[in-house]
Amino acid sequence: MSIHSSTSVACANIAFIKYWGNRDHALRIPVNNSFSMNLAGLYTRTTVKVDGTLTADKLFINGKPANDAALARVHGILEYVRTIAPKKDFMCVESENNFPTGAGIASSAAAFAALALAASRAAGLQADEAALSRLARRGSGSASRSVPDGFVEWQAGTDDESSYAFSIAPAEHWPLADCVAIISDAHKKTTSTDGHALASTSPLQTARIADAPRRVEICRQAILTRDFEALASIAEEDSDLMHAVMMTSHPALFYWKPTTLRVMQSVRDWRKTGLPVFYTIDAGANVHVITLETEMKQVTEKLKTLAGVKDVLATTVGGAAYWVDEGAV
Ligand code: DP6
Repeated sequence: MSIHSSTSVACANIAFIKYWGNRDHALRIPVNNSFSMNLAGLYTRTTVKVDGTLTADKLFINGKPANDAALARVHGILEYVRTIAPKKDFMCVESENNFPTGAGIASSAAAFAALALAASRAAGLQADEAALSRLARRGSGSASRSVPDGFVEWQAGTDDESSYAFSIAPAEHWPLADCVAIISDAHKKTTSTDGHALASTSPLQTARIADAPRRVEICRQAILTRDFEALASIAEEDSDLMHAVMMTSHPALFYWKPTTLRVMQSVRDWRKTGLPVFYTIDAGANVHVITLETEMKQVTEKLKTLAGVKDVLATTVGGAAYWVDEGAV
């Protein structure tokens, strides 16, 4: 009996233009293009073994058997891989995050990007970067953006073939940093997956989508020309727009805490004094504070002085997802 195994590593990413709402929920085809940068310091390492002796897929996260919901989601991806890959046996997936679980840092992007690489290689599937990004997207939309290098655009597309992410500039293009102010480690009451399904219930979502091409273009140019001021203002606007949609959907999703607002206000004040900083917030209370690598230490220290900030995780820009080994026993 042969066991084929593969290990891969993928970074988390932070979006400057957010993904919120799908045109196809099952395939995770989004309603708008999004932009992100990979986060070198926050990553998942995943080993997948295709094992003919298994009678079901298995999933371990940080050394412990995963809960049913996580297993079901991963199983869905593995089932799909078996339909297109030469090897059809069940798989054992072992996944480790280097960042603290329960810190409110979304792990699905790094996790499904790493799974796409390791599962396809272990199952003998030949897949190029776009195909791997598409496979990651089926597990978690934002995972499509954790496959390519550095600064990444996810082209919404209209179907499975056309919806994938690609790099618009490598990690070395612009030494930015993300200082994540940890405010709440509470588990999200509403998952992103449920949130995407609610987006269209907000009357503001139509306006948000209609204006997306403008924001996407400004973001692309800001990244390509390394224009920090332009990126700061469009990323804050885009994050605020997404949260306005969240707050006005039915039922309403309200992720901010008092400390979230305190950090947002401080970041805007610091920027007025000349410090290159801006904020962006995902589906949680934590605030991602983007700055230049040279200011990373200073921004981390300043954030730590704010009441209610429990910790700060600081990271530079990350590269593409990669395979660590290609062991075939
Ligand atoms: C707010 O990719 O986590 O972080 O596809 O259901 O897994 P699923 O959703 P997910 O949504 C991310 C939403 C966001 C914005 C973003 O990263 O673009």
